[in-house]
Amino acid sequence: MKAIKVDHIGVAVKDAAPVIKLYRDVLGLELAGDEVVKEQKVRTIFLPVGDTEIELLESTEPDGPVAKFLETKGEGIQHIAFMVEDLDGALKELEAKGVRLIDKVPRIGAGGKRIAFVHPKDTFGVLVELCECVKK
Ligand code: CO
Repeated sequence: MKAIKVDHIGVAVKDAAPVIKLYRDVLGLELAGDEVVKEQKVRTIFLPVGDTEIELLESTEPDGPVAKFLETKGEGIQHIAFMVEDLDGALKELEAKGVRLIDKVPRIGAGGKRIAFVHPKDTFGVLVELCECVKK
């Protein structure tokens, strides 16, 4: 497998409104997506910058994964997402190499993209998301 680029950086926030204001009004980014991913109990807000994006993550439920992250670690970078061409192949390869996966089977993330998370215990503390390159 080969990671093509950093697709996006996921940032956990308590309240997205003032953060959107900062990224938009101070850093000059534009809002490209604002969507609730029910299954993940999260609202995701995408702000493209250059060839990548910032993904703001605001929990929609007190027991969601982002709420738990905020409780233990506070606001900040929650994950880094790498784009790959063949997600199923990448997951098989990682498993074969002994890298633990949170998602052995891809799930559907924001924007209908196929994604999967790698276990942070095997990626030196960084929660890594792999997302499949959408062929145009
Ligand atoms: Co993400």
